[in-house]
Amino acid sequence: MAEQALKVVQADMGEIYSNLGEKAELFSNSSILITGAGGFLGYYLVNFLLYANSRIQQKCRVVCVDNFIRGVPAWLQTFAIEKKVELIKADVTKFDPKSAGKIDYIIHAASIASPMYYRKYPIETMDANVIGLRNLLDHAVDQSSAGTPIKSFLFFSTSEIYGDPAPEFIPTPETYRGHVSCTGPRACYDESKRYGETLCVNFFQSRGVPVKIARPFNNYGPGLNINDGRVIPDFCRNVLSGTDIVMFSDGSPTRTFCYISDAITGYLLILLSEQNGEAFNIGTEAPEISVKNFAELVALTAEKQLGLRKVDVVTQKSGEKDYLVDNPERRCPNIKKARELLGYDPKVGLEDGLGRILTWYKGGL
Ligand SMILES: NC(=O)c1ccc[n+]([C@@H]2O[C@H](COP(=O)([O-])OP(=O)(O)OC[C@H]3O[C@@H](n4cnc5c(N)ncnc54)[C@H](O)[C@@H]3O)[C@@H](O)[C@H]2O)c1
Repeated sequence: MAEQALKVVQADMGEIYSNLGEKAELFSNSSILITGAGGFLGYYLVNFLLYANSRIQQKCRVVCVDNFIRGVPAWLQTFAIEKKVELIKADVTKFDPKSAGKIDYIIHAASIASPMYYRKYPIETMDANVIGLRNLLDHAVDQSSAGTPIKSFLFFSTSEIYGDPAPEFIPTPETYRGHVSCTGPRACYDESKRYGETLCVNFFQSRGVPVKIARPFNNYGPGLNINDGRVIPDFCRNVLSGTDIVMFSDGSPTRTFCYISDAITGYLLILLSEQNGEAFNIGTEAPEISVKNFAELVALTAEKQLGLRKVDVVTQKSGEKDYLVDNPERRCPNIKKARELLGYDPKVGLEDGLGRILTWYKGGL
């Protein structure tokens, strides 16, 4: 099974590489610093750069920064032992970016991203999105002053900056200003990402930092920690252990889910573009599916594609009192801007993507 799981990841790398086409060559002979490298998106970003390294003209240097609060993942440990990446264990709010040497590309993905955890660690969540980001932006200015400017900087914001949009703003375009609480239980995440975006735009306008912003809409795929507390790993854990899928809502809120190979293509297209100071939605427009229908689809996919016993979908009240507070009713992106300016074109269907993540989880990687 582990072999099949690895095959899924390798095939995804091939997809991302072919989606990027000649642009992948821009990484040749460059240094890339990734914060939050030990996380879900980090898994694919690092794996992709190493995959690209055996194809581009000159290898790139990959520097992985993370506080590794959950330990260094085995896959990253292996890459470090094989000297394919450099590891820096540090809190991004205190880390000295100079210790990483000259950097060409900065990807700031360090943040607490799961609602279950950011409600538990609100101050740490805000700090990573604001102080950590500021630290890296200041470093970009310093490198420029020293005559070695960075080539590009990508900040991971979130679709949560839109809050709970009224129906006329669904699908939500980048121009929508948001309907967000600044004091509710999700505000530590939503508002710090909003301020992070403000920092980025002003560091571009006032200091010339070539920074861009990605607004991810619910990504899923291999690398997403099964105990993360987000809906997809929770449902997958249920089907893989043969227990009923438990929903902590009535299942009526709707979401779109974007498979990781499409999402990573989008993020790298932003990073490698000239769209400084701009924000892009990265996700898929369809299907917009209710959580209940999605849970049923996970159960069906596990049965059809992996031969697992079909489980039922049940509803329970969450033990966490704020679980549903400020939970958006609908979440669906308008991705016209990324399509037109970046050539972003997500391709992986929901059942296909679910088959891939379930295969990966079953492989126990
Ligand atoms: N995955 C998604 O669907 C999604 C959706 C919206 C936004 N995002 C954003 O994308 C980024 C990456 O998300 P992810 O899904 O990979 O999250 P993740 O939780 O899997 O990984 C984040 C990583 O950041 C590290 N980290 C957290 N705080 C840190 C700090 N102060 N210093 C150093 N490291 C720290 C964690 O240890 C973890 O390894 C985050 O900024 C997140 O807010 C992701």
